[in-house]
Amino acid sequence: MSHAAVKSPLAARAGSPLKGRLRVPGDKSISHRALIFGALAVGETRISGLLEGEDVLNTGRAMQSLGASIERIGDGAWRVHGVGVGGFRQPQGVLDFGNSATGCRLVMGAVAGCPITATFDGDASLRKRPMQRILDPVTLMGARASEMAKGGRLPVTVEGARDPIPIVYRTPVPSAQIKSAVLLAALAAPGETIVIESEASRDHTEKLLLHFGADVTVAAAGTHGRRIALKGEPELNAAPVVVPADPSSAAFPMVAALLVPGSDIVLTDVMTNPLRTGLITTLREMGADVETLNLRSDVGEEMADFRVRASALKGVDVPAERAPSMIDEYPILAVAAAFADGTTRMRGLKELRVKESDRLAAVADGLKANGVVAEIEGDDLIVHGQGRAQGGGVVMTHMDHRIAMAFLMMGLASAKPVGIDDASFIATSFPSFVPMMRRLGADVG
Ligand code: S3P
Repeated sequence: MSHAAVKSPLAARAGSPLKGRLRVPGDKSISHRALIFGALAVGETRISGLLEGEDVLNTGRAMQSLGASIERIGDGAWRVHGVGVGGFRQPQGVLDFGNSATGCRLVMGAVAGCPITATFDGDASLRKRPMQRILDPVTLMGARASEMAKGGRLPVTVEGARDPIPIVYRTPVPSAQIKSAVLLAALAAPGETIVIESEASRDHTEKLLLHFGADVTVAAAGTHGRRIALKGEPELNAAPVVVPADPSSAAFPMVAALLVPGSDIVLTDVMTNPLRTGLITTLREMGADVETLNLRSDVGEEMADFRVRASALKGVDVPAERAPSMIDEYPILAVAAAFADGTTRMRGLKELRVKESDRLAAVADGLKANGVVAEIEGDDLIVHGQGRAQGGGVVMTHMDHRIAMAFLMMGLASAKPVGIDDASFIATSFPSFVPMMRRLGADVG
């Protein structure tokens, strides 16, 4: 999906305390996967709570181009008729994933296991992101890839394998996207494919594979890793998917409520998969008052409501091994760290350099634009908090939704307004962000 050429600046400023209850939209990772698995299953998959953001809608359009029938039947309610494993048809035209590496990389894996050829493309941000990490394993499985831009960048054409080969693959970086791409390609391969990761990454693909009837086993590997084994050529059977609220989106109002004096909010239905909750662990270590209410697990994933009250925070050391469970939350954690008393060191953030923007640089620059002392040391980000409100400046967002949302949250607790150069990319993951924040009392506009 293309964005307006004109940027859409926005600012946030301090005002009243944040109050109220909020259900942020559905989890982005599960929403992409629900559409992809629905498209690969036989029968009708009903999805409720789907995130209707640009990233996910692009994945839906790709699934339609590949032969699935997808229909919106209500608010967040979607119906998918799948084509069965290996059943994707040759798409007409390029598959355009806009800003989304998740959609692009997962669908690359799924296409690599089918006897079709498809060209993958995206916006200027996605065209900068590494795709070799997907092309390497799918080539081992018998697919062929040609890049037009070289260097493992989009646009890329993938010719799927006629006879996909099961492999044993050790992911070179802890990435759920790499793991998922291999598992999706492996669906069409006879025999067992094994993926080994040295640090466990989010496991929604494994859970949905089980939910749709595939034979998957997951075992521990090493201290923090996992070994996932998938038996190829399963029949995937359509199954209903209920998408809980996205913890990565909930992170923004959560931190804002901690920082804005007098705030007291409840975030409902938030997914609490332990491979996604590193931010909450870290915030609690910093002294945050985040209370878990009503923990339940009736939808395949655990979820809970969180009551969040304004808190005085202190600086902490965030270990590198926690990074996979909070990889998308460092921009907003860095904002929290700017208000904390003392220094916060966030270790092992190499992967942040290859997100929607170079997030390590974008966060450090954004903090500095607001007068916060921050530095990058190797792959670590160090933020010197002053234990009080600081900020006031304009932040460059580099086509990155999470940089945009993180710094708007900073503005809500800063002495002076914080502006961002472009809010349009917020629509990729959290289209209702501004109205929802306003409903809590935030002054954003
Ligand atoms: C995602 C995995 C993560 C994360 C992204 C969503 C997924 O990326 O940053 O927002 O849904 O699999 P990596 O696999 O690159 O770590």
